[in-house]
Amino acid sequence: MMKDFGPTVLIFLCVFNTICDTVDKSKFKICDQSGFCKRQRHIADGSSNFDVNLKSGRTFKDYAVFDIVNKDNGHKFLLEVHTYMDGTFRVLMNEESPLHPRYQVEHALLPDLKKASMEFESVGNGESWTLAHTGMRDKFYVQIFASPMKLDFYSGGKKVAVFNGRNSLKYEHLRNKPDVNDEPKEDGGEETPQEPSMWEEQFSSHSDSKPRGPESIGVDIDFPLTQNLYGIPEHADDFRLKDTSGREPFRLYNLDVFEYELDSPMTLYGSIPYMMAHSPERTVGVLWVNAAETWIDVKTGGSGIVDSIVNLVGGSEDKEGRTRWMSESGIIDAFFFLGPSPLDVFKQYAKVTGVTPLPQMWAIGSHQCRWNYNDEEDVRGVDANFDSHDIPYDSIWLDIEHTDGKKYFTWDSHKFPHPVEMIQNISSKGRKMVTIIDPHIKRDGGYFLHEDALANDLYVKDKNGKVYEGWCWPGSSSYLDFFDPKVREYWASRFALDKYPSTLDLYTWNDMNEPSVFNGPEVTMPKDMMHYGGWEHRQVHNMYGLMQVMSTFEGQLQRSENQLRPFILTRAHFIGSQRYSAVWTGDNMANWEHLKASIPMCLSLSISGMSHCGADIGGFFQNPDAELMLRWYQAAAFQPFMRNHAHIETKRREPWLFGDRTTALIRSAVRRRYALLPYWYTLFYENEQTGVAPMRPLWAHYPTDAKTFGIQDAHLIGESLLVHPVTDKGATSINVYLPHGVWYDFYNYIKYEGGTHTLTVNDDTIPVFQRAGSIIPTKQRIRRASSLMKDDPYTLFVAIDEKGEAHGTLYIDDQQTFEYRTGSYLKVDLTYKNNKLSSKVVHSGPSFNSKEWIERVVILGANKKARDVKAVSKSVGSVALESEGEHPLVIRKPAVLVNEDWEIDLHF
Ligand code: NOJ
Repeated sequence: MMKDFGPTVLIFLCVFNTICDTVDKSKFKICDQSGFCKRQRHIADGSSNFDVNLKSGRTFKDYAVFDIVNKDNGHKFLLEVHTYMDGTFRVLMNEESPLHPRYQVEHALLPDLKKASMEFESVGNGESWTLAHTGMRDKFYVQIFASPMKLDFYSGGKKVAVFNGRNSLKYEHLRNKPDVNDEPKEDGGEETPQEPSMWEEQFSSHSDSKPRGPESIGVDIDFPLTQNLYGIPEHADDFRLKDTSGREPFRLYNLDVFEYELDSPMTLYGSIPYMMAHSPERTVGVLWVNAAETWIDVKTGGSGIVDSIVNLVGGSEDKEGRTRWMSESGIIDAFFFLGPSPLDVFKQYAKVTGVTPLPQMWAIGSHQCRWNYNDEEDVRGVDANFDSHDIPYDSIWLDIEHTDGKKYFTWDSHKFPHPVEMIQNISSKGRKMVTIIDPHIKRDGGYFLHEDALANDLYVKDKNGKVYEGWCWPGSSSYLDFFDPKVREYWASRFALDKYPSTLDLYTWNDMNEPSVFNGPEVTMPKDMMHYGGWEHRQVHNMYGLMQVMSTFEGQLQRSENQLRPFILTRAHFIGSQRYSAVWTGDNMANWEHLKASIPMCLSLSISGMSHCGADIGGFFQNPDAELMLRWYQAAAFQPFMRNHAHIETKRREPWLFGDRTTALIRSAVRRRYALLPYWYTLFYENEQTGVAPMRPLWAHYPTDAKTFGIQDAHLIGESLLVHPVTDKGATSINVYLPHGVWYDFYNYIKYEGGTHTLTVNDDTIPVFQRAGSIIPTKQRIRRASSLMKDDPYTLFVAIDEKGEAHGTLYIDDQQTFEYRTGSYLKVDLTYKNNKLSSKVVHSGPSFNSKEWIERVVILGANKKARDVKAVSKSVGSVALESEGEHPLVIRKPAVLVNEDWEIDLHF
């Protein structure tokens, strides 16, 4: 955020539109202003000189080690290649004896990764080695070439990824600072000449003392089969990555970017250095495990515009995609997930980085936030208005103004004198509350947190060992060092109900955790600040937010004695943040382009693990008109995390403030969200089991359909719903691409074959399509909050395919505790076949007793009236049922229970 002005001054300027709408680029570096990026980016292909000594190969059960030499200067390195379960390889490269330890990322990956045993073979006359998973040589292997060093990765006989194939590896070894009197000298062919920026760097008024000097790494990673590359969030850019030739590389450096611009490779709040390369034949993923500032060049042979034209005429799948990864410090640590399908890669990635744990049901409902709800009366009024307007919602959020002077874990005693009662009032309606808790700590003598932090040495320090001071919402602030286990423990303990006046129905929003420092370089912490373990901020910057949410998660667990599933929303994120938090796309704007951008941004995050993703409904800055607000609600109702939020100086925008018709239409959109909660919940359960996110690109399930590769205005929810929200002002029609097969409009049941369709839309239209062959569980008795719908009956939507079949799953549990992890849940498989709909309980937990029943079945694609319909189950026996219509064919009140096996037979 632009912090040189106070927020109020800024808004004043914004209102008069003088400095609004554009990011202040002068505050953020371009590659040439970042010493290491400049040194790395201009490395020519073929210019590096690393050799692997294959004879030195030492093989172990699941990995092999080789000596490497940089022939330009004789510096020695070690290469390790590890084999993991299910087609995953890891490449690690470090100096053999670095002058100081180089940082290897901790905490982001799952502990105890499952290794696979390895077989190896020397090829030719010792020119290369192959390493394969034992007995799976035909599926996955890596071939290591000696001179120049290169690693080719094969999946099912096809070369899918190449490491250093263009021979551009540049690995700056740690060195002593040259004497000031030394002449600058060339350090051999590979090394850049000594440059002043290697030992000290300036950016605007900030200077970065670089005590360890140059230590960057950079290498090319190419994808021989495809130029369809995705991932590396967070950027406000196309889902399919654009070529960076002639523009800036994609940057990954967690920053608080005020009024971020679209179609830009500029960095944002989060950094997940993970990319997927998808072609009709194979999909592959690459994870670059590095927490330092990182830039990525992408060559896909065209600009975004060229890409989309190529895509229109049938895809660009048969050319090589080229990338180059450059990080300021750390080691080379890269995973290769060899697929072969998109779903395989999602699963392989999840086995290394973890999954989003199943959220509590309320967390996937609709959330209401604002900077700020002013006081208890305001909260009561907003809550009551949702009821009087009959709009469901599940939680109300309080932003920074609820605290006593921006001191987190406190309440403003005038505006919020009765926090516990206030939360209880909300939870008595079946809802929750969320408060913001940021990582900057007000340097205020009377503030317990600051005093504890000083007394127990909990803060990040500067390079001289003095507590670091920066500027944030409270004014002068210091920053907890979440890398220190004792800090995490202390922070977690602060959530205890006897320390933080609250109840178990209060959850947490961790914001500003890049960390944002208003007066710091690029609005963040200087790189030469020091963390626990002797690491500079430079080495760990992108993980700061991860470490905070990890500790908040622990705090929420502890306060409920591990009973309740935590809920945290984070802004900054990194590899593994999905294990602790949901994410939103930060301070977007109230315009149509930002509404559109919410889809590619959440798709990128979803394929990179952050599956509980959403964008501020309406746009954070500025004021949406009724049409934009409505369309935003309609889109967000079908995105994983759904929250209305706005800047303090915007007009109020609760859903009933845009006129009666808009209120009615927003109500309709939100009700559609609530009807589908059983489906979302089942998908989030599956997400925890498999790592496949609920929100998916079309190519996840149509991997050979090149027309889907560039789609970013539509997405799938699970395998069975395709959503193409209306995101154009004044739209009266929309072009929707449906992959092959048959689809049904989910709301008016019109049948479509695969292909492009121009559909007429009105203000109540949300284009959502159900795939023929699927069964979708819903609840149609919409209430004030999801918790009140818990025991309500289900309506099943059965869309029959050309074989006369359909399949679905329903997952049910107590919606809030961890009991499901010990088996307390119900899972049923639903099948339609041979004119019979049957439900089979595949798991029924011992202490979980679900009483819900099926109140309606809607069948699409039968196209004839049923002569008679009969339900058979233990509890109902065999009963004749009423049915009506042929498309849809509706069966009323079968009254069968979800916790028993049942059948509904149809005779035509
Ligand atoms: C920045 C966040 O992105 C925004 O959502 C929040 O309202 C403000 N900080 C104030 O806390």
